Amino acid sequence: MEEAFEPQIIAFCCKYCAYAAADLAGSMRLNYPTNIKILQVPCTGRVDIIHLLRAIEDGADGVYVAGCLEGDCHFVCGNLKTRRKVEYVKKTLSELGIEPERVEMYNLSSAMGPRFAEIANEFGKRIKDLGPSPLRIKQAA
Ligand code: FES
Repeated sequence: MEEAFEPQIIAFCCKYCAYAAADLAGSMRLNYPTNIKILQVPCTGRVDIIHLLRAIEDGADGVYVAGCLEGDCHFVCGNLKTRRKVEYVKKTLSELGIEPERVEMYNLSSAMGPRFAEIANEFGKRIKDLGPSPLRIKQAA
């Protein structure tokens, strides 16, 4: 019998919003996939194109960045800059024949624990539906 596909997902979460929202989701005992590795960053502006591409190259099936609501970034426009980086990575993946939906950007506040869980569930389902990353398949061969 074939093993069920459990996606490996990386979430870069700003400490001021998404990381705190993840904590809140945990306190509220909301369910979200356990296979999402949450990496705290001081601002999503610190997430660079290379971090997103390297995560995919290293075998992640999906990667998302979760930052403060637009207009609420503690460093003014880190989240806006990173939205553009995410769009660039999507375009690059597409040119490489990899589904651009494997990378995403979300915005939320620290009070949005339920939204954090919803994003994690939605993105997890999206990646599960897409199946393993072509790069992970290549590495396993
Ligand atoms: Fe949260 Fe910049 S401080 S995205």
